[in-house]
Amino acid sequence: MLNRILILHGPNLNLLGQREPEVYGRETLADINESLSLLADELAVATETYQSNHEGNIVDKIQEIGFQYDGIVINAGAFTHTSIAIRDAIAAVTTPVIEVHISNVYNREDFRKQSFISAVCKGSIVGLGLEGYRLAIRYFADR
Ligand code: DQA
Repeated sequence: MLNRILILHGPNLNLLGQREPEVYGRETLADINESLSLLADELAVATETYQSNHEGNIVDKIQEIGFQYDGIVINAGAFTHTSIAIRDAIAAVTTPVIEVHISNVYNREDFRKQSFISAVCKGSIVGLGLEGYRLAIRYFADR
C-alpha cells in the first residue's frame, strides 16, 4: 500500500502568488500543489492537499486522518503562533507531523519566532520556500 501524506495549508496561503510576493514568492497555491503532486507520483506516495482559513477546520482535518495516514506536512500560517488547539490536535493523533514555513520565521518579526506546534512535531523546515514541502514529503516517502 502507498504511503499516505496530507499536505495541510493554513490561513492566507490560498493567496500565495499575490500575497507579499517579496516574502512568499510568486508561485500560487495551485502551482505548489501541482508540483507536490508530481513529486508524489515520482516517489510513489499518495498525497492529499487541504487548505483552510479556519482553525477548527484544521483541527477537524488533523483528527479525521491523524490515526490513518503516514504523515502530515503542515504550514499552519499565523495559527502557528497562536493556536493551542492545533498543537493539541497534533499531540493527540498518532500520525507524525512536519511543520513547514515558506519564509524564515526567525529573521522576521519577533512574534513569528514562537511556534506553539514545533514541540509536538517530528521536525520543522523553515525558510526554504517550496523546497521545504518537498523535503518533508521525501522524509515520509522514505519511511
Ligand atoms: C508562514 C509564516 C507565518 O508567520 C505567516 O503567518 C504565514 C506564512 C510561512 O510559510 O512562512 O502565513 O507560515
